[in-house]
This record gives sequence, C-alpha cells and structure tokens, in this order.
Amino acid sequence: TTILVLNGPNLGRLGTREPEVYGSETLADIGAQLAASVPDGVEIDLRQTDDEAELIGWIHEAVDARQPVVLNPAAFTHYSYALRDAAAQLKQAGVPLVEVHLSNPHARETFRHTSVISGIATGVIAGFGSGSYRLAVDAVLRSIE
Ligand code: DQA
Repeated sequence: TTILVLNGPNLGRLGTREPEVYGSETLADIGAQLAASVPDGVEIDLRQTDDEAELIGWIHEAVDARQPVVLNPAAFTHYSYALRDAAAQLKQAGVPLVEVHLSNPHARETFRHTSVISGIATGVIAGFGSGSYRLAVDAVLRSIE
C-alpha cells in the first residue's frame, strides 16, 4: 500500500514559516519521520504544491488508483470548492481521506474556522504539529487493515 500525503500552498516553507505556529521541522523532516514509522510493505508518497490544479490532479490520481490520502489542504481548506469536489470522488469511491492540520484552525482567525473539505473527509486531525501527520497515517492504516 502507498499512502499519499499531499500538502498544499506554503507548506514547502515549513521550518522557517511561522515556527511558533507550525513548528521548526521541515516537510522533508516530517516525510522522513512518517516513512520511518510505517510498517513494512507500506510506502509514504509525500508531495507538496502551491498550485491548486496540480493538487487536484494528484487527488484524481488517488481516486483512479484507489490510494488512501492524507491531505493538508493549507489555505485551500477554507475556500477551494474545486479541491472539495475532487476529494468528494474519494468518498464516492470509498477511499479513505484524512484531513490534517499542524495547527488547530478553530483556535485561530475566524476565516480558518470553516473547512470546505471536512464534510467529505473520512476524518480530521488538527492541532498536534507534525504529530497530526503521524496520527493521520495511523488512522489510514487502521481503516485499511
Ligand atoms: C494549516 C492551517 C491553514 O489555516 C493554513 O492556511 C495553512 C496550514 C495547518 O496545517 O495548520 O497553511 O493547514
């Protein structure tokens, strides 16, 4: 099994971007930790883009390949109906989708309190820093066992 771990805009800046909010680890650090934590036979395919179209294309790939997805949609969380419509096809296909956030958006600015993704996600994990990703991957593994 390969778990796609998809990351939206500005997450390539982790490490230097608002470390008091997002921690000081880079996305590569997080990817390395995930890869080290999964059982044999499970692969982590971690990707990041600032481009909505590219992210949507990766979701389509996951739908067609029936690959479980851990998704940090970053700011797209709050307004991208196009990303939601893409991700809804995972739900339609019965493929797990875990929405993940480093921070807890509900404890932050009002515009972050709305997620257009959560309503079609299998579940949501937020507020545990890089630990959110580990919990999300664990949730995926349990759901496909
Ligand atoms: C984020 C929260 C979003 O509100 C923000 O736009 C991000 C990161 C998080 O992981 O905490 O870029 O998704």
